[in-house]
Amino acid sequence: MKKIGVLTSGGDSPGMNAAIRSVVRTAIYQGLEVAGIYQGYQGLIQGDIEDLKITSVGDIIHRGGTMLRTARCEQFKTDEGFNKGLDMLRMFKLDGLVVIGGDGSFNGAKRLADAGFPTIGIPGTIDNDLAYTDFTLGFDTALTTVVSAIGNIRDTSSSHGTVNIIEVMGRDCGDIALYAGLAGGAEAVIIPEIPNDVDALCRTIIHGKKRGKLHSIILLAEGVGKPYELAEEIKRKTNSDVKVSVIGYLQRGGTPSPSDRILGSRMGAYAVDLLVQGKFGRAVGIKGNQMIDLSFAEALEMKKDYDRNIYELARILAI
Ligand code: ADP
Ligand code: F6P
Repeated sequence: MKKIGVLTSGGDSPGMNAAIRSVVRTAIYQGLEVAGIYQGYQGLIQGDIEDLKITSVGDIIHRGGTMLRTARCEQFKTDEGFNKGLDMLRMFKLDGLVVIGGDGSFNGAKRLADAGFPTIGIPGTIDNDLAYTDFTLGFDTALTTVVSAIGNIRDTSSSHGTVNIIEVMGRDCGDIALYAGLAGGAEAVIIPEIPNDVDALCRTIIHGKKRGKLHSIILLAEGVGKPYELAEEIKRKTNSDVKVSVIGYLQRGGTPSPSDRILGSRMGAYAVDLLVQGKFGRAVGIKGNQMIDLSFAEALEMKKDYDRNIYELARILAI
């Protein structure tokens, strides 16, 4: 192995830059050359590829987003697009590739590995929706942002006595809502993994008001959605003033937390080690603070579930 490529794909997540920096610098440390592929699989197909040096990744560890930019690329899902990408990897004389992205990006990476191209995946997504790893890169920063937003909204909720629904991202996974709900002291967490009982929720709100609670914060995962309909129903059933905040892209960017910078740095170095050792088609993860790797097939087949203990604790503490 002489030269490897690195790309970021799918939604950007804080910590991707730390991972890119780590891939580039540990690869060069191990005597490899590195090329950056811009805009994910889109840039791969277009040959938007350039060599990276140690200095190319200076001053990025603290930045959100991704210096390599990113894209969602429908063309790469087609055989024609995929084969163009594979040809580019060969044309630019790359012997290995690190893909930083979510489960969609891993599907693309798996195809490359299955076609015989040495590929490693680093889970970069705020959603924490990959079952094989305790945490994905960017989740911790997104949580920090959401918890800060809860703090601000709680001030207003307490001052006005309003019920505040906060919709957060996470696609089909409720982890951002669940963990932010626990950390932010929310009165309720609504996630797609559990059927929502609006009457029980309204009873909690009424009970809270009776015992003198000033604020009422409801964390709603986007996978459940329909925040305005929920607001109308709660308004009707509890006779409260209900406000909705869909915080959207605020929670995807921003300076990465120390944990995400450390995770990105560790995962980048581990990915390079795997390539150097000749272990290909692997997804990098973290379990109990140890780096792990599984085949893409194993990693993608594992079904993500929510943590029942965390959910139960958030519920008990909200009483
Ligand atoms: P994420 O990686 O964050 O889950 P997406 O699901 O949008 O984001 O996937 C990112 C990109 O990965 C897609 O736009 C596409 O280019 C690529 N991809 C997804 N699924 C496949 C697939 N089955 N084959 C090849 N490429 C895929
Ligand atoms: O996967 C990250 C994420 O931010 C999800 O939480 C959200 O559902 C999705 O991406 C939004 O994607 P887009 O930016 O393409 O609208």
